Amino acid sequence: WVLMVTAQTPTNIAVIKYWGKRDETLILPVNDSISVTLDPDHLCTTTTVAVSPSFDQDRMWLNGKEISLGGGRYQNCLKEIRSRACDVEDTEKGIKIEKKDWQKLHLHIASFNNFPTAAGLASSAAGFACLVFSLAKLMNLKENQSQLSAIARQGSGSACRSLFGGFVKWILGKLMLVPSQHLQEGNGSDSLAVQLVDEEHWNDLVIIIAVVSSRQKETSSTTGMRESVETSLLLQHRAKEVVPKRIVQMEEAIQNHDFSSFAQLTCADSNQFHAVCLDTSPPIFYMNDTSHRIISYVERWNRSVGSPQVAYTFDAGPNAVLIARNRKIATELLQRLLFFFPPNSETDLNSYVLGDKSI
Ligand code: DP6
Repeated sequence: WVLMVTAQTPTNIAVIKYWGKRDETLILPVNDSISVTLDPDHLCTTTTVAVSPSFDQDRMWLNGKEISLGGGRYQNCLKEIRSRACDVEDTEKGIKIEKKDWQKLHLHIASFNNFPTAAGLASSAAGFACLVFSLAKLMNLKENQSQLSAIARQGSGSACRSLFGGFVKWILGKLMLVPSQHLQEGNGSDSLAVQLVDEEHWNDLVIIIAVVSSRQKETSSTTGMRESVETSLLLQHRAKEVVPKRIVQMEEAIQNHDFSSFAQLTCADSNQFHAVCLDTSPPIFYMNDTSHRIISYVERWNRSVGSPQVAYTFDAGPNAVLIARNRKIATELLQRLLFFFPPNSETDLNSYVLGDKSI
């Protein structure tokens, strides 16, 4: 027999960024972060997990190619989930799996992204969230979404925020705040995601992603943030002084549908994150000339109207994530972008991703 579960999880885009870990193994951040989860059918991962007594080892395929599950992050997630597995019974198929059986049974995992991995768009967030969610369903875990997010966090930090729709906060947690006090202070299990508002709360917003480069980023987020933690004084200042205030203001802006504050905070936080990258030794450059030109263009547009119409934010790469205040502005934005930044080699732009349509 084979028992299977399939799940689909969208990616999320941080508007207050996570950058820096206080514990690398458990993936505990130095500051809270807030993100917006894209609609389920846009930029998502679909994962099928299967269990059968005929499987002789755990195996995983990503976009049809087998990958190694040897990496610590996969093993950490699998271990956490197996230890919480419960009895499962499928009377129709006559299958009964007892709690203790999960330690011996092996899993096959097949995961697909509905966007080209080569597009350079974040995939680890949706990937680990989907893996944890589908395994939790298969193994009948009793944990709630926030508790599951603390497991997904151990796969990739940003993944914990993809367990919820709408706007989501990843709380840094108090346990293990001081790395040298590991044993006394527990396992960081209070570092988890909570939903701030659901997907209906602010559904005017439209997200357009300008795919600036399809090349793999030179410095991975994991390596980049390690180097920033070791060398950037600005990161320390940001984590202690800046982000705590911004989190409060951002939560307020979201609750009140206050697009002006939302856009101002989102752009400022993206810019500060990239300033931290420049403050890292050696400096890390994620944005390129095209990214900078898009920022200048949006800033000029917002200023000419007198109030922000569009927010921009950039993760660990040159792609621009643009958040328009409503559908009308999104249409106008897309027209302007296609005119001033047509996708071709001269503009160094590949395509625009608007929801599930590429242009
Ligand atoms: C710039 O979650 O990819 O996108 O925890 O090491 O897997 P790891 O890093 P990852 O970092 C994401 C960084 C970011 C900002 C964000 O999503 O908050």
